[in-house]
Amino acid sequence: MIGDSRTRYGVISRLFHWGVGALIFWQALKLGDRIAEGEHWIGQTLVPWHVSIGSVLLVLIVLRIFWAIGQLPRRPLHDPATAWLVKSGHFALYAVMLAMPLSGLAHLIGNGYGVKVFGNQLVAKGDEIGWAAAVGSLHSPLAWLLVILIVGHVGMALYHRLVKRDDIMQRML
Ligand code: HEM
Ligand code: HEM
Repeated sequence: MIGDSRTRYGVISRLFHWGVGALIFWQALKLGDRIAEGEHWIGQTLVPWHVSIGSVLLVLIVLRIFWAIGQLPRRPLHDPATAWLVKSGHFALYAVMLAMPLSGLAHLIGNGYGVKVFGNQLVAKGDEIGWAAAVGSLHSPLAWLLVILIVGHVGMALYHRLVKRDDIMQRML
């Protein structure tokens, strides 16, 4: 099933969910720069791709949002008692997910560093732009917020699977 249905998420939604999720995990490894100033295997092999992978994520996240909006009328429903909470949680995940690459770009452009994606200089080095640098300074706090949201999200998924033993996890697998 390509699209979503009331009983489960379709192939495209699942590919977006797990593909974007894996790339976000890769991006979060950037926090490892705080250990020994990134002088370790992860810091030297996976983290240097941060800006390139982040730019791919920007495209994927925008496509994912359009796809999700298109699927809204037929997506799996949530328990009416907590639907508003689940919807707010998913909305927050989307909002912070989108804000990550945008604030990352703002950080680089605002501080005049330019943007190089997979070896291609997409934005040249230039003058500092105050407002963009200010937006860019939100990148790190937003990264921590995203980590907290994801921990809560995964925790709830495991709660459904292991405690409530319902089919919530199954519809995303
Ligand atoms: C979903 C996408 C992204 C995620 C989850 C993410 C996550 C992170 C994390 C966790 C950090 C470390 C923050 C810290 O140590 O406090 C970081 C730093 C950074 N990110 Fe991203 N990022 C993303 C996209 C991008 C993009 C698209 C760019 C640039 C085009 C970018 C540029 C940077 C830069 C330059 C830093 C270092 C900031 C500094 O040294 O102050 N990021 N990011
Ligand atoms: C081990 C990691 C993860 C697990 C087990 C997991 C599990 C799930 C499950 C079971 C659902 C369906 C919930 C429902 O319909 O009520 C879901 C939906 C969702 N998840 Fe995750 N998830 C994980 C990681 C992530 C990550 C890293 C993100 C984004 C940062 C994310 C964002 C979302 C969003 C936005 C939805 C709503 C459906 C959609 O629009 O795709 N998830 N997740």
